[in-house]
Amino acid sequence: MSSMPEKMISSAEGPRPVPVIAMGTATESVIAGIEAVTPSTLIEAIKAGYRHFDTAAVYKTEKSVGEAVAEALRSGHINSRSEIFVTTKLWCNSCDRHLVVPAIKQSLKNLGLEYVDLYLIHWPLKLIQDEFRGPVPIECIATMDLKAVWEGMEECQTLGLTKSIGVSNFSSKKIQQILSFAKIPPAVNQIEMNPNWQQKKITEFCKANGILVTAYSPLGAFGNRSWGHNRVMECDILQNIAKSKGKTVAQISLRWLYEQGVSIAVKSFNVERMKQNLDIFDWSLTQEELKKIDQIPQRRHVYLIGTMALEHNDIMDEIDAELD
Ligand SMILES: NC(=O)c1ccc[n+]([C@@H]2O[C@H](COP(=O)([O-])OP(=O)(O)OC[C@H]3O[C@@H](n4cnc5c(N)ncnc54)[C@H](OP(=O)(O)O)[C@@H]3O)[C@@H](O)[C@H]2O)c1
Repeated sequence: MSSMPEKMISSAEGPRPVPVIAMGTATESVIAGIEAVTPSTLIEAIKAGYRHFDTAAVYKTEKSVGEAVAEALRSGHINSRSEIFVTTKLWCNSCDRHLVVPAIKQSLKNLGLEYVDLYLIHWPLKLIQDEFRGPVPIECIATMDLKAVWEGMEECQTLGLTKSIGVSNFSSKKIQQILSFAKIPPAVNQIEMNPNWQQKKITEFCKANGILVTAYSPLGAFGNRSWGHNRVMECDILQNIAKSKGKTVAQISLRWLYEQGVSIAVKSFNVERMKQNLDIFDWSLTQEELKKIDQIPQRRHVYLIGTMALEHNDIMDEIDAELD
């Protein structure tokens, strides 16, 4: 097993470790709906020390993740399936009570696995579409019955199809709703988070409720033309800190997240950058550096309107507003 630090989350078996950095697998080709990464790239990630993959039904990368895990087992890079933590997500087109268990079964088939470690509701939103196609027409956008879908998620855990369940892009208001009826509370909330969108309120709320936050787009999805921006990687404050410490801006951002007590999903399909992004555990930020990072102007980037749909509609507007 790698020496990567771990966080603990609730699971069917009691508290269970999660490797703190996951290799993200979402790319711009999500939008095109094509397979975006080869298993050999992900095997490089395992060789570099990654033991956690973040995938989703909508990313079309579950098959590659599963093949990489199988190949890593065959070639002896890992000794058992249990050494890899796999997170995948329920897409919005399966956000109906009767579709949740079939959706995780399809994901498990794609992955070639008997269970995943963590299953998340990708967005608190229902889409009436067989396959994701953006921009989503208004008539395909619907409100999700959260209680019914969460029951489906709980069934996934009870059936042993996933060890833990959680959510992604959920506001504290929506999580409170789940907590009011859940038999199994969410273990994780995966959200946009980086030094330019620090998410203090929701991280405090999650911490108080025993929910681990996972930060996505920790580098602002730099270079990604669909949902990326350069405000993290070109931030003066981060650049100055990086220069003075002999680190890269990516490492400063990832280290800052690590020091916030969250876990991180960061994507790189470049072997050198994969290694660089793991090299954050044997040094730390000073109080003065942390204070400077606190002063970075805050700006959220991921909104449903603009990425998933072009026209305003009440359902997406409400989700977008709650996430502020
Ligand atoms: N739950 C959700 O709704 C949601 C939304 C977005 C993302 N996610 C998950 O979170 C993962 C990470 O987020 P993300 O992919 O949006 O963005 P990200 O990890 O912030 O950024 C990835 C981009 O940064 C580049 N990069 C990586 N390391 C670098 C480094 N050290 N120096 C310079 N550039 C570097 C990558 O290019 P190279 O590959 O060329 O290195 C890639 O283009 C996703 O892959 C996905 O698994 C979840």
